Amino acid sequence: MLSNIVKNITPSATQDMEVTVADMLAEGIDVIGFNAGEPDMGTPDFISEACKKAIDEGRTKYVNTVGIFELREAICRKLKRDNGLEYDPAQICVSTGAKQAVNNAVKAVVNPGDEVIIPSPCWVSYEEMVKMVGGIPVTVPTLNDFQLDVDAIEKAVNDKTAAIIINTPNNPTGAVYTEEILRKLADIAIKNDFYIITDEIYEKLIYSEKKHFSIASISKEAYDRTIVINGFSKAYRMTGWRVGYTAAPKEIADGIASIQGHTTSNSTTFVQYAAVEALRYGNDDISKMVREFERRKNYIYSRLVKIDGITCSNVDGAFYLMPNISAFFERGTNGKRIKDSYDFCNYILEEARVAVLPGAAFRAPDCVRIAYTNSFEKIKEGMDRIERALITLNKE
Ligand SMILES: Cc1ncc(COP(=O)(O)O)c(C=O)c1O
Repeated sequence: MLSNIVKNITPSATQDMEVTVADMLAEGIDVIGFNAGEPDMGTPDFISEACKKAIDEGRTKYVNTVGIFELREAICRKLKRDNGLEYDPAQICVSTGAKQAVNNAVKAVVNPGDEVIIPSPCWVSYEEMVKMVGGIPVTVPTLNDFQLDVDAIEKAVNDKTAAIIINTPNNPTGAVYTEEILRKLADIAIKNDFYIITDEIYEKLIYSEKKHFSIASISKEAYDRTIVINGFSKAYRMTGWRVGYTAAPKEIADGIASIQGHTTSNSTTFVQYAAVEALRYGNDDISKMVREFERRKNYIYSRLVKIDGITCSNVDGAFYLMPNISAFFERGTNGKRIKDSYDFCNYILEEARVAVLPGAAFRAPDCVRIAYTNSFEKIKEGMDRIERALITLNKE
């Protein structure tokens, strides 16, 4: 018999769509992907070169479970420089992607029966990770502009609350949480004594005057109950390399090291050497990428809000927009009704040959997630196609 873990979790909607798009492309169908949660541009050459050099130098053996010292030191320098956070290399655990880092963090502070607050819309994996340790995910909707609803969060807190998982800039909404709101959240966490797991993987992808703010930097009390998650996938375009990290108070960091020691051990050794170079020289490259994402976001946003029936928040971060498409529910063509965001995505995939993701998978049932991780030309073409398909629906 299958385990309760398997019976309790749902497969990742984002990974399912990736398979669908890959299959369609393999069949020669001209589908445009607005689904991928990864930059379309390749990893910068200097990072690949550092990896090749590390292999040539024989950096192919097991290393310390929590990562090579050089990388953990470089991560500490980054956290100080960018986030005003003081960590010692002993508080860092380098993992196989930020995904493993979040999973380690959840395992380190959540017991069976504990509740974990997750503001929604939310990334598809948080709830499943909580369920996998026997915890109970408690989703709390965000406000209309996708900022945290701190009053609703406070109401959701009870004796069983072990942690909150926040993600800023946010996947899937693109929202960048303000310092003011994060300060209020920290007060609630301190008062009620629960942990904050803060996933900051999109930190570098912000397109306005807004600044990324790390909740751990608020005070010693906030720092003492916060686990910071970050990684290399989005900022350095290293999605396939699988390298991310946690920074945490020493006791939690030790727990995370034990968990990882019994699961995957160290993140790939030669990749860690490349990650050191990424932190050392990656900033110019990030700026160029951010300018391009901003151009795409502004373009898609301007096209979306002109479409009858669509409303959209003009958010500032990550590479996602989350338009509300519920005006199209109960409409349809050829006898097919659109009942929900899944039907809407299927319609757009079949009719426009554009892949977008159903908001329902992220607990945003009235929305879809559009990732602008495709070239500007493909984005123009994709928006033309979506617009044509929706004009047809609007005529029904
Ligand atoms: C919010 C969020 N956290 C974590 C991750 C995982 O990143 P990594 O590739 O470093 O595992 C993703 C990837 O899509 C993400 O969107």
